[in-house]
Amino acid sequence: MSGPNTDYDPVEVTPLKPEEVAAARDAALAAVAAAGDLEQLKQARLEHAGDRSALALANREIRALPPQARKEAGQRIGQARGAVNQAIAERQAVLEAEHEERMLVEETVDVTLPTDRTVPGARHPLTTGSELIADIFVAMGWAIAEGPVLEAEWLNFDALNLGPDHPARTMHDTFWTEPSDNGIVLRTHTSPVQARTMLGQEPPIYVACPGRVFRTDEYDATHSPVFHQVEGLAIDEGLTMAHLRGTLDHLVSTLFGEGIETRFRPSYFPFTEPSAEMDMVCFVCRGTGLAAPGGATGAGATCRTCRGEGWIELGGCGMVNPRVLTACGVDPERYTGFAFGFGIDRIMMFRHGVEDLRGFFEGDVRFTTAFGSEL
Ligand code: PHE
Repeated sequence: MSGPNTDYDPVEVTPLKPEEVAAARDAALAAVAAAGDLEQLKQARLEHAGDRSALALANREIRALPPQARKEAGQRIGQARGAVNQAIAERQAVLEAEHEERMLVEETVDVTLPTDRTVPGARHPLTTGSELIADIFVAMGWAIAEGPVLEAEWLNFDALNLGPDHPARTMHDTFWTEPSDNGIVLRTHTSPVQARTMLGQEPPIYVACPGRVFRTDEYDATHSPVFHQVEGLAIDEGLTMAHLRGTLDHLVSTLFGEGIETRFRPSYFPFTEPSAEMDMVCFVCRGTGLAAPGGATGAGATCRTCRGEGWIELGGCGMVNPRVLTACGVDPERYTGFAFGFGIDRIMMFRHGVEDLRGFFEGDVRFTTAFGSEL
């Protein structure tokens, strides 16, 4: 670095002359004032206040001046640069405010434009439905069990008092598997899990089994060859039909709301004795069978949920047949039990007003997303 050059004649240093400094300043102020937007102002700042601007270069020359001249020139240039910097700051504030105002006016959002957002998925209503039902039983202290969908014929039928010649065996429209004598079927109900559970553990038993079942049904709005059941089994000392009724009433009121009347109709299942079908009062029309007055269908129309019946059939139930207890190693002298099997698809159809069962199976996201994520 060279020290101050005392021989230097300040008059000869053109950039430091007062009129040159004033000219540079005025040019800078004019450019700043002329800047019409932030980009132009940036250019003006680079040109007139940047490292290579006339004032910055002049400022660098000061060092070479003798002390007195350095002071004068320093003041002059300092004032000029200060004025330019202030003008830039003021212009900047004005242009920024203008810019913001313009953006507010120009940037209207067109809410009708398509988005590229990834639509969040929804869990399948049969999954959430199964979990909802399982949770109701877990809250009562029951266990949840699962069994295989490819089931031993013996567990699907024989152990449940459906011997080879039992007429009810043909009523189950069974999918048999190849080779035909292998003794394996696609389970026609979740009841083999009853047998599996009793064979696998000592009473007391309180177990619910939601699962997929198969029958050679036609595929239409109310039937499907694949559907879902939840099986319940309780084995303990002193269990009666009243316990069964109370348990199912609790299930119904949790799923459909308090105070919904239920009824048992006599029925027949080989694995329960006595057996019943359980119905509940239609939770929409409350048993009248009529559509709501003033509803879309008009006065006097039938209720669409129960189709005018006033009642909705939920499924079969009964006291476990002592023959089944014996076949599964439970002492029928000491223990009694109850069992039931309800259709989960049916329950979800009623609960959500789904009119066509096929919606559950066709995998159309427009169907499932309508359910959202039920927790
Ligand atoms: N397994 C019977 C069915 O699928 C339902 C049921 C289960 C009935 C348990 C009584 C007891 O139809």
